[in-house]
Amino acid sequence: MGRIAYVNGRYVRQADAYVHIEDRGYQFADAVYEVWAVFGGKLADADGHMERLGRSLQELKIAPPMTRQALDVVIKEVLRRNGVREGTVYLQVSRGVAARDHAFPRTPVPRGVVVTAKALDRPAAEAKAAKGVRVITVEENRWGRCDIKTVGLLPNALAKQQAAEAGASEAWFVDELGLVTEGAASNAWILDGDGVLRTRDVNANILRGITRRTLIDVIRESGIPLSEKPFTPEEAKAAKEAFITGAGAIVTAVTHVDGAPIGDGSPGPVAARLRSLYIERARATAS
Ligand code: PDD
Repeated sequence: MGRIAYVNGRYVRQADAYVHIEDRGYQFADAVYEVWAVFGGKLADADGHMERLGRSLQELKIAPPMTRQALDVVIKEVLRRNGVREGTVYLQVSRGVAARDHAFPRTPVPRGVVVTAKALDRPAAEAKAAKGVRVITVEENRWGRCDIKTVGLLPNALAKQQAAEAGASEAWFVDELGLVTEGAASNAWILDGDGVLRTRDVNANILRGITRRTLIDVIRESGIPLSEKPFTPEEAKAAKEAFITGAGAIVTAVTHVDGAPIGDGSPGPVAARLRSLYIERARATAS
């Protein structure tokens, strides 16, 4: 059975699913998206991602395409039709289709809505995560509104490609102050030499990661000291541990930054513990 996508009101075979050539998401990246991790057929951090979706739409003055309840029904139906119990679900909302003109269409048009789901072999994903990932650093070159989750991801795609060509799987952006902002598709963390967990604060130009936010709750309960004090690539290289968070990565240890080993170059125990604590919580609260 091929994959099924929801596209503008219809459930269609993904292989046959198309959007209009004048969809503004296609022409101007005038669209926002969300990705949820799926555990047991339910959404991890469902509310957090929905709230951020609402905020992204609001910041771009795109009217919500449907109610939260209707969106829930569509997402669950896509999961059901694809038989996805473990994996991810992707939602994209564009401003819609209009004759090409940079300014918004004068009369609002129906928003473009696409939902897809992808199954994941959880034990294989755990085995892969246990090996950790390598990260490179790249110059921050994105626009000033990385807090909005738009599909304008060209700098992120280029950074990921640069990482792939260097034998790594994530790239950390470094801003003009020499501080790590975040990854191309994840938030960046270290466990510094003093045993303090550090990640960039959300007033910086980063995406306000939902996994990041839930993990902060988990960390506070675990009693590990936490500081939203930014760090440099050099501090990362000297850290005891490093890891990334996101709906895709969940919590994944970083073993090398720009080829330099973090600790002894193998995934650290704190990252592993936080991963299992996060997954435990996500499974218990998924909806
Ligand atoms: N990316 N920063 C960036 C630039 C991201 O693209 C993502 C997520 C995150 C982590 O956010 P969250 O914890 O809410 O997933 C941080 C998704 C998974 C993606 O683009 O596929």
